[in-house]
Amino acid sequence: MYTVPKLKSYTAAALDKAVEKLRAALDEEAKAIRTEAEWKTFRDRWMARKSGVLTQINDLWLKAAPKDAKRDVGQRVNEIKAKVTEVVEERQVKGIGLAAADSLEFGDSVTAQVIPHLDITLPGIRRPLGAEHPVIKTMHEIVSVFRNLGYSVEEGPVIETDYYNFEALNFPPNHPARDTQDTLFIARQESKPPRERLLLRTHTSPVQIRTMEKMKPPIRIVIPGVVHRNDPPDASHSPMFHQIEGLAVDTNITFCDLKGTLDHAMKALFGSSVKTSFRPSFFPFTEPSAEMLVSCFICGGSGKRGSEPCRPCKQTGWIEILGCGMVDPNVYGFVDYDPKKVSGFAFGMGADRIAILKYGVDDIQLFFNGDVRFLEQFG
Ligand code: DAH
Repeated sequence: MYTVPKLKSYTAAALDKAVEKLRAALDEEAKAIRTEAEWKTFRDRWMARKSGVLTQINDLWLKAAPKDAKRDVGQRVNEIKAKVTEVVEERQVKGIGLAAADSLEFGDSVTAQVIPHLDITLPGIRRPLGAEHPVIKTMHEIVSVFRNLGYSVEEGPVIETDYYNFEALNFPPNHPARDTQDTLFIARQESKPPRERLLLRTHTSPVQIRTMEKMKPPIRIVIPGVVHRNDPPDASHSPMFHQIEGLAVDTNITFCDLKGTLDHAMKALFGSSVKTSFRPSFFPFTEPSAEMLVSCFICGGSGKRGSEPCRPCKQTGWIEILGCGMVDPNVYGFVDYDPKKVSGFAFGMGADRIAILKYGVDDIQLFFNGDVRFLEQFG
């Protein structure tokens, strides 16, 4: 490492030689700078007031020079000062902008260092725009269809009690209908009364109860949200997925209202040419209950794509899209509604499944493993 020598001779040739050595050292050290930290060390070594190289040449060369040599030495010291200042500044820009770029981590802020040397002719920093996740986008679309029909949005907790997830929805304790829900229970709840025990909600239906507890009819709500089930992940299952629930309670609501509303919603979502069909089903909280099918919007209901079988509808021409029914009078008993005065319908659908169908995705896991190359296609 270069150290400032004492000058033995003050002839022009001797001075030039000393300056040359110093300049060579300056260049060599400047070249080696790779990181901001290294640049700071370099700057301090040359420019620090107390013992930087510039201070040293001032003391050892200029102050020590005999009177008649002072002018010559002073001139050279000034030139060295200007050069050192220039190199230090120049390396700062290069250090951050080029060499140090190798050592920057993604997200490191370089703005602060670059601003003093802002070159407004350079292209700006392009910040990539985020995009809505395809499942969230689908949920927003579904919600907006119902908003246009006058429905409002309600939400509820993902960690739910047994009472809201099951009991008030007319799943009695130990009823086999609970088995269909593959519930994930929160540990160490045994000391609580059964209905207060916590679990991860298996559906968005508990928010029906929570809403009816706090509001009197007429009710028209949709409930988007995350639900969990103890399903091992595969192409069509995920332990976490999304549902959208609907509930309409008023006087004189009939199954015709249910059919008309859902038929309209499916046409708004999948195109005006889709047809809907209902077949009987069972849910504890609706009576009668149904499953709704839409004609396959991929093959147009033919069950075939050219000469190939249509996979999404399993060649049937119909796709099962949601569960629904008229709210069971027992449910009104839990929320203090009079089943003789009010009636209503409810429905629930899986948002991820609808997104899969809409976008022709063949694996639900793609939605959740965070691969930007997959997700940015929906931007
Ligand atoms: N909660 C049901 C499930 O996750 C879906 C459902 C069926 C919701 C019928 C409803 C309904 O509101 O009326 O399996």
